[in-house]
Amino acid sequence: MLQPIAVDPKTFQDALADAQAIAIGFTQVTADEKTEFNFPANASLIKKLEETFEINLHDELSFFSATGKSGEIFEIPVAADQFSADRILLVGLGDETNYAIRQAGAALGRKARGKARTIASLCVSNHEQLKSFAISVQLGAYIWTQKTGPAQEIPLFLFATDKPEVIESASVIANAVSQTRDLIHTPANIKTPLWLADEAVKIAGETGLEIRVLSGKDLAEFGGLRAVGNSSPKPGPRFVEITYHPRGKKKSAGILPHVVIVGKGITYDTGGVSLKRPYEIMAPMKSDMAGSAAALGAISTLPYFQPQVHVTVLMMLAENALSGTSQRPSDVITQYGGKTVEVLDTDAEGRLVLADGLAYAVKNLEPDYLIDIATLTGAATLGVGRQYGAMYTRNEKVAKSFSEAGERTGDRVWHMPLVDDYQEALESPIADLSHVSGKKRFSAGSVTAALFLERFVEDHTWVHFDIAGVGRSESDSGENPKGGTGFGVRLLIEWLTSLS
Ligand code: BES
Ligand code: ZN
Ligand code: ZN
Repeated sequence: MLQPIAVDPKTFQDALADAQAIAIGFTQVTADEKTEFNFPANASLIKKLEETFEINLHDELSFFSATGKSGEIFEIPVAADQFSADRILLVGLGDETNYAIRQAGAALGRKARGKARTIASLCVSNHEQLKSFAISVQLGAYIWTQKTGPAQEIPLFLFATDKPEVIESASVIANAVSQTRDLIHTPANIKTPLWLADEAVKIAGETGLEIRVLSGKDLAEFGGLRAVGNSSPKPGPRFVEITYHPRGKKKSAGILPHVVIVGKGITYDTGGVSLKRPYEIMAPMKSDMAGSAAALGAISTLPYFQPQVHVTVLMMLAENALSGTSQRPSDVITQYGGKTVEVLDTDAEGRLVLADGLAYAVKNLEPDYLIDIATLTGAATLGVGRQYGAMYTRNEKVAKSFSEAGERTGDRVWHMPLVDDYQEALESPIADLSHVSGKKRFSAGSVTAALFLERFVEDHTWVHFDIAGVGRSESDSGENPKGGTGFGVRLLIEWLTSLS
């Protein structure tokens, strides 16, 4: 894990002497056909550096015809007796919006990725911006690999700030995202539901969270989880319940809100008997547990942040395999709580495991907010692309608070409509409901899935995130590696910590 270090600006000059590179943020403004460059952070220190290295950064940027676009980086070789640094990295900060600052951070992280170098950053100093920047630097530098050979080298980042907590909380968040990415990247031959439950137990132990894992006969009531997960009977499905209480406060003691987050944890989705085709679309399906991993990542930071809210995470862990014990299209199953569902397409397995989790929360946990997060439908990717997660809720106020938390953190979500004309799609002639629509005119698959889940939340305030598009990145770019992105971790942390 990367461990960034906060250094007091007063002593930063000493720390600088040992850094192998110094990153300096810049912006560009053009007025009266004259191009100006600004260095918004630590101006006096930067001035001193220019003197020490005998360079003029403005001239260097003019020479490169720098535009200041966020993420633009120029490398300038330098040398000075009392400094180890052999280069200055000039980092474009764009218009200095949160978004631009994150892009710039990610670009610097990428530049440093895989090298054991110390990089001192003089890019932004405003606390809010510094937090975003420091998180994105770490996300950009993230690597996951199963290659054997020499251990991966990791860079060390130093940030000048008079508020070290900013860097510490940035690092807690970035490490939670990295941990989530690690789980998503792990291939499904290793990552069985048992393995993932064990990882959750480890993480809960390290962070001081309560945890309980159900398997086998204890899952008798979880008809959806069993129908999907018994396709791979060894080791079979797992239900994981993780609880956070603020220090000194038990659930019964208080008036604090209780948030329950249900995560889809399909460790591999072959589609089952309704096999995924073509096979190229199956290969990424080790990431089909990204929702449960994000919920785990978020709750693992709460003992550190101590928000005044009770939180329970339910991880619905199962493999959707093709085997002699797979469910069949036409099966009727009984979900947790008793509703019967006609299963017509075994590839729509996510909603079956989530429905059990939602019904369990309603029956046992008295949630004030019931949230689920899932790589649920390919259709969500078609609807909002790979830049936004699809958010469904009937509560406008909560939708707004999540949209804002998303813009602040970079895990952006778009409020989608729960189109009631689609309720008809869930009618079944033989069961309480059907989980997919057989009819062509119901083509918004992400909406049908959301409406199905809503049938299990009774009158609770409910928010559903379909992160099929954003949970995984198909290219290595910006903050994201190819593969699991850890989407949702920053969003949930931000929302939970601003709730109280
Ligand atoms: N895990 C998939 C959804 C998915 C697709 C996630 C692409 C990430 C990328 C889900 O279980 C699924 O197969 N959904 C089907 C539903 C359909 C059968 C109604 C889909 O979206 O095609
Ligand atoms: Zn599926
Ligand atoms: Zn799936």
